Amino acid sequence: MSSSLVFISGASSGIGLALAQGIPWTDARILNISRRKAQGCENFLADLADPDSWPEVAALMARKVSAFEGRRIVFAHSAGSLEPMGFAGEVEAASYARQVLLNAAAPQVLGDAFLRAVRDHPADCTLLMIGSGAAQSVYEGWSAYCGGKAAVDHWVRTVGIEQARRGGCRILSISPGIIATAMQEQIRATAAHDFPEVERFRQLHAEGELREPEDVARDLWAAVEGDLATGSVIDLRDA
Ligand SMILES: NC(=O)c1ccc[n+]([C@@H]2O[C@H](COP(=O)([O-])OP(=O)(O)OC[C@H]3O[C@@H](n4cnc5c(N)ncnc54)[C@H](OP(=O)(O)O)[C@@H]3O)[C@@H](O)[C@H]2O)c1
Repeated sequence: MSSSLVFISGASSGIGLALAQGIPWTDARILNISRRKAQGCENFLADLADPDSWPEVAALMARKVSAFEGRRIVFAHSAGSLEPMGFAGEVEAASYARQVLLNAAAPQVLGDAFLRAVRDHPADCTLLMIGSGAAQSVYEGWSAYCGGKAAVDHWVRTVGIEQARRGGCRILSISPGIIATAMQEQIRATAAHDFPEVERFRQLHAEGELREPEDVARDLWAAVEGDLATGSVIDLRDA
């Protein structure tokens, strides 16, 4: 029996993949939730921009948690997308709606599902949302992403207080900084018409300013193992 049960959304790429590969507990049972498989994980394939997938993920969590007898349960929600970049009112409406569902709604609904699943379990439980500086800063062309990340941060503050009152699951949102993943490649490949600040991101990349996902994963796991209060919304660059 594993001592740790770890759900990671988006473990097929980037930060989620590095989180899966860098888990600090040797005998962890890792479940990836994304559209593509992740090596080294059990895989539950789901398109999280489709609300029909959410009850299926909730049922998966309930099932796995109720069968688990170890002492630590974590849900690291890393799945997210900037596609399509472009101004509200200009990009294709259905793609815009998918981005809102993925970045704003899915984290809250799946976070709720996780809390329901672990509610009566005696294990130490942590829900980690991967946040972004875009929750605070305005980036033209990223409106659904900025709005989604801001919504999730405030959800974390609110649910963190609720859990402190009665619950016991620790809720965190941690912004990683600017990380060398597929998402940053997409950013640099975007036309200035759709993302006016693109040149700054190309510059940061050219100057070697991006952090590697493995380094960030180490910092994120250290934060999960540390003593951050529930409801904390932090940026690794301020830590
Ligand atoms: N890279 C950065 O500089 C940076 C900065 C701040 C915050 N973040 C945040 O970090 C998280 C991970 O991003 P990343 O940089 O690692 O990007 P990435 O390499 O593009 O990975 C994104 C992950 O999200 C999953 N995903 C995307 N759309 C999905 C969907 N519809 N359903 C299920 N899963 C989906 C992808 O899996 P599938 O394609 O297999 O579905 C993939 O595993 C995101 O929440 C992002 O907002 C990144």
